[in-house]
Amino acid sequence: MRKMIIAGNWKMNKTPSQTRAFIEEMKPLLAGADAEVVFCVPAIDIIPAVEAAAGSNIVIGAENMYFEEKGAFTGEIAPDMLVDAGVKYVIIGHSERREYFAETNETVNKKVLKAFEHGLTPIVCCGETLTQREQGITLDWIRQQIKIAFLGVTAEQAASAVIAYEPIWAIGTGKVATTEQAQEVCGAIRALICELYGTETAEAIRIQYGGSVAPKNAAELFAQPDIDGGLVGGASLKTDFEQVVKFK
Ligand code: PGA
Repeated sequence: MRKMIIAGNWKMNKTPSQTRAFIEEMKPLLAGADAEVVFCVPAIDIIPAVEAAAGSNIVIGAENMYFEEKGAFTGEIAPDMLVDAGVKYVIIGHSERREYFAETNETVNKKVLKAFEHGLTPIVCCGETLTQREQGITLDWIRQQIKIAFLGVTAEQAASAVIAYEPIWAIGTGKVATTEQAQEVCGAIRALICELYGTETAEAIRIQYGGSVAPKNAAELFAQPDIDGGLVGGASLKTDFEQVVKFK
């Protein structure tokens, strides 16, 4: 049985002191949740988040990392830095990173491999634009993103990974994918993992849906057979997140 994983993606929100206060506020609300709960936070908020979450069921993740070990890469964060700070998960290849920071399937693959090398679990993002959906090439596009992201990844590593399917047109728009659309793509991703690695890996890997997940739609989305939780932007910044985590 796969354990559901519900991860907040704070994006560029909350200062370190706001982080401490919010995690303190959320701790009692999220205690005892059935799902695994992760907050992926801006780099500067990682240490206050880890400190505030200590002793609770809240796990802290990062929103990005670089694929080199160390050196002259001004402004970047190395995998070791995340590990040392207490990070467990790292979002890789979010569509905003692809769009605004020139990330490609190839850099995503390098980051995924590097994350595994350091014992971090990547939350590998994929998703189509509205044009791609309208052109009927969603599944081809997603297959390409995932195939390249997982080049060189072993079956054992893949089994522990998280994939987040986030249709770009549904991110931050309030326009959530229908449960059928979300399930169709998440099912196709699991079928691809089966094709690449076999049934056991496909049954183990966790696949999230992301894009305008909110208290009102979480239960229906997360009840789909191939959806193992969500990557949640806007709704993870408020105490409402409790209702997303406790969706049942
Ligand atoms: P949203 O963002 O929930 O605000 O749509 C999701 C994401 O980008 O991860």
